[in-house]
Amino acid sequence: MKQIICLEPGKFEHREVSNPIAEAGMVILKIKRIGICGTDLHAFEGTQPFFSYPRVLGHELACEIAEIGSTDTHYKTGDPVTIIPYFNCGTCIACRNGKPNCCTTIEVAGVHIDGGMGEYMKVPAYSLIDGFGLNTDQLAMVEPMAIGAHAVRISEIKKNEYVLITGAGPIGLGIMAIAKLRGAIVLAMDVNNERLEFAKTNFNVDYTLNALENPAEQISKITNGEMATVVIDATGNKRAIEGGLEFLAHGGRMTLVGIQKESFSFNHPEFHKRETTLRSSRNATREDFDLVVENIRNGKLNVSALISHRVPFDALLELFPQLLNPQMGVIKAIVELD
Ligand SMILES: NC(=O)c1ccc[n+]([C@@H]2O[C@H](COP(=O)([O-])OP(=O)(O)OC[C@H]3O[C@@H](n4cnc5c(N)ncnc54)[C@H](O)[C@@H]3O)[C@@H](O)[C@H]2O)c1
Ligand SMILES: [Zn+2]
Ligand SMILES: [Zn+2]
Repeated sequence: MKQIICLEPGKFEHREVSNPIAEAGMVILKIKRIGICGTDLHAFEGTQPFFSYPRVLGHELACEIAEIGSTDTHYKTGDPVTIIPYFNCGTCIACRNGKPNCCTTIEVAGVHIDGGMGEYMKVPAYSLIDGFGLNTDQLAMVEPMAIGAHAVRISEIKKNEYVLITGAGPIGLGIMAIAKLRGAIVLAMDVNNERLEFAKTNFNVDYTLNALENPAEQISKITNGEMATVVIDATGNKRAIEGGLEFLAHGGRMTLVGIQKESFSFNHPEFHKRETTLRSSRNATREDFDLVVENIRNGKLNVSALISHRVPFDALLELFPQLLNPQMGVIKAIVELD
């Protein structure tokens, strides 16, 4: 089968490898679509921390079941599926407490172990998500949207509360869309006006704010001086993370979804006086994937709008560097097979 491997930063290679074989408990997937995400771009650029090469990238997958190893399952060959690409041990403290998304020895496909950038991929049967009723484009968007569903769920977002989401990339847009489904009043903030416009047009956010145009004053006006009861960072930007506290209501919750390599700090009196709840949000769990699939299926979540660029599998080597260019206006690029 054909596969694309990232040999080292900046270097992809097409290669021919033997097809995977389905042992007990494993399933072979035929890959139809591969969403490209920031992780893949950073891996290619060499700016992804803790990344080892060579690596087959790709974890946002639309697939069809090609073969099932001996296992007790309702799936059959040809079924449309996607996967939870975070493989977990099942026995560590986090797994035992129902948090496989932060397993102590987590292996994310396309990051810690090889992913799906090829014609076929072998995965454990427990990672399958039933994609019945979803087309291949929608299936490839489930994983990034599930990241948003997780952040919204653990932030315990309620109807009619003011939620500020900073960063209108694919991750932030997913959070905005799911927060809207929960009935929140969503304030979208970014420094990129095009992306803010996109959030308004496609995900119906209630307010858009440019982070460079005195957002504290605008948020105060919108919320009657009370500020947002939930602030979610989807930028990973250190200044944005540290500055987020200023926009948080007393008694509010702050959730960090964006990833930052360095330490960050808050002014303690500002943090204390609000009795701030601070949490991070890592990956997603099955219930988050299920919520996303259900809402795509019933037409409440229009994820196809996120797809801004399409790349045929055979042209990826040539076109990938262009996807890194901010001028291209990429929101989500997907790789197409057959
Ligand atoms: N929690 C998780 O499990 C998880 C999963 C995937 C990605 N991530 C992280 O989520 C973050 C967002 O991912 P993405 O793919 O949407 O990235 P992206 O780069 O496409 O989007 C980030 C957005 O933030 C905006 N931004 C940057 N600095 C800002 C600032 N100071 N103020 C306001 N806006 C600012 C940018 O203009 C951009 O639109 C990244 O840090 C990524 O690593 C986390
Ligand atoms: Zn991703
Ligand atoms: Zn574990």
